[in-house]
Amino acid sequence: MTRSLAELKTDVAKNVRNFADFPKKGILFRDIMPLIQNSKLLNELCHAIANHVKEDLGGAVDAVAGLEARGFLFGPSVAILLDVPFIPIRKLGKLPGKTIKATYVKEYGEDIVEIQADALQPGARVLIVDDLLATGGTMHAAIDLIEGAGGKVAEAFVLIELADLKGRDCLPQHVQLFSLISYAD
Ligand code: PRP
Ligand code: MG
Repeated sequence: MTRSLAELKTDVAKNVRNFADFPKKGILFRDIMPLIQNSKLLNELCHAIANHVKEDLGGAVDAVAGLEARGFLFGPSVAILLDVPFIPIRKLGKLPGKTIKATYVKEYGEDIVEIQADALQPGARVLIVDDLLATGGTMHAAIDLIEGAGGKVAEAFVLIELADLKGRDCLPQHVQLFSLISYAD
């Protein structure tokens, strides 16, 4: 029997490592690579995310969108389990054809992300996934892109929320954020 997200929380947290002063001084980096390398736990986690989508979001989603780069580490697996397309949201200049862009300021720098303009069917319900919410700039940009491409955000899903940075408060109020683990400092 597959464990739920709530039941997996402790094991997922044990598979996140902390690195002080990376990538620059003052940043405590939450490294999810032990989780990504733990195939059994990652498999359980992706099933639990898929079950959460099926049971808690009031209907099926039409796509899973993930943010480059760390959202690509588990987003496609969730999309396969839900049998829906994975839509990449990439950093500037990586996607061919017509794109929609969003600029944002993140915890340590400014960036631009893009989605292919024809990535979504009109009105598509989309689960957005990323590893971590810090200031919320990245997720806000992703929401803008999904909505700009004609989709609706079913949920913004992150494994980790850095609650003290209050990124949650900067997201559009009509979007529901789910974070599995929340760190207060
Ligand atoms: C990191 C993290 C989130 C984002 C959160 O990505 O993976 O995507 O920062 O920060 P924010 O909430 O302040 O916007 P980053 O682009 O640094 O690296 P990555 O390419 O390894 O995902
Ligand atoms: Mg990222």
